[in-house]
Amino acid sequence: MNETVTTDRYGVMGYPISHSRSPVIHRLFALQTGQDMQYELLQVAPEKLDTALRQFQRTGGKGLNITVPHKKAVARLVDQMSERASTAGAVNTIVFRDSEIYGDNTDGIGLLRDLSVNHSVNLEGSNILVLGAGGATRGIVAPLLEMQPASLRIANRTLGKAQDLVEGFEKLGPVTACRFNVVPVSEPYDLIINATSAGLHGDTPPYPEAAISANTFCYDLSYGLQTTPFSAWAREHGAAKSVMGWGMLVEQAAESFYLWRGVRPDTAPILKRMHITA
Ligand code: ATR
Repeated sequence: MNETVTTDRYGVMGYPISHSRSPVIHRLFALQTGQDMQYELLQVAPEKLDTALRQFQRTGGKGLNITVPHKKAVARLVDQMSERASTAGAVNTIVFRDSEIYGDNTDGIGLLRDLSVNHSVNLEGSNILVLGAGGATRGIVAPLLEMQPASLRIANRTLGKAQDLVEGFEKLGPVTACRFNVVPVSEPYDLIINATSAGLHGDTPPYPEAAISANTFCYDLSYGLQTTPFSAWAREHGAAKSVMGWGMLVEQAAESFYLWRGVRPDTAPILKRMHITA
C-alpha cells in the first residue's frame, strides 16, 4: 500500500552536524504549537551543498536551517534574500516557496531578543565591544546598531579585517575598529560580545582585561555544556553577568519557525526545558 506523506519536512544542513540541538528545539516548538512537521539533521559537505539543497526542495522540503560552514555559500544559491540576510552576507534560514528559494537570517534578531527580552539588557545609549570580525560579527552589527548604542567597537586580531567590516556599516551608526588586545577604554563597556571562533579551537586568546568592569554584561555567541573559555574569563574578571549563546540559539530558531509556519512559539518553557536559565 502506498502511503502518502503529508507531514511537512524541515531540517538543518551543516558539516559536521551531529552536535546540533536544532531538531530538539523545533520538535518542542511543533509540539507546543500543534504543528504537523518533521525536522531532520542533514550532514552535507561543502561541495555537495548546491545538489543537497535542490534535492531537498525537489522531494517536498518546505524549509531549512543552514549552519556552519554553509551560511555564506548558501547566500549565493538563493533566488531571493531578505534585507537582513543581504546585510549579513549570510543565510541561516531557507523557505522553499513553490519553485523559488528564499533566504533569510534570524541570527541578529535572535541575539537581540535574548539580550532584551530574556536578560532585560537595554542597548540604547550603551557602549558595546564585539570581539572578532568574521561571519558571526557580520550578522549582528546591523541589528546592534539599530538599537542605537552610544558606541560599537569591533576588536579583532587582524586589524585590517575589522576595518574592512566596519567600512560597510559606518553609515548605520557609530561603529569603529581596533586591535583585539589594544582596546581603547574611554568609558566602561556595558556589553562585551565574544564573536570569535577561538573557543571552538580550544584557544584562550588574551581577552582585553581593561574593557571589563563590574557593570559589564558578557555574552558568548558560542555555547556548550561546559562553560566556554570566554565565559569563564568574564566570570573570573568580575563581570556583572556572563552568559553563553543558548538563548540566541532558541530565539533564532523561533524566528525561523515563525517564517515557516506563521506561528511564534513561546521560547521561555523551551529554554527552561533545556535547563537554560533565561
Ligand atoms: P567565519 O567568517 O566563518 O566566522 P573567520 O573569518 O575565521 O570565520 O572568523 C573567526 C573570527 O574569530 C575572526 O575574527 C578571527 O580573528 P582573525 O580575523 O584575526 O583570524 C577570530 N579568531 C579565531 N581564533 C582566534 C584566536 N585564537 N584569537 C583571537 N581571535 C581569533
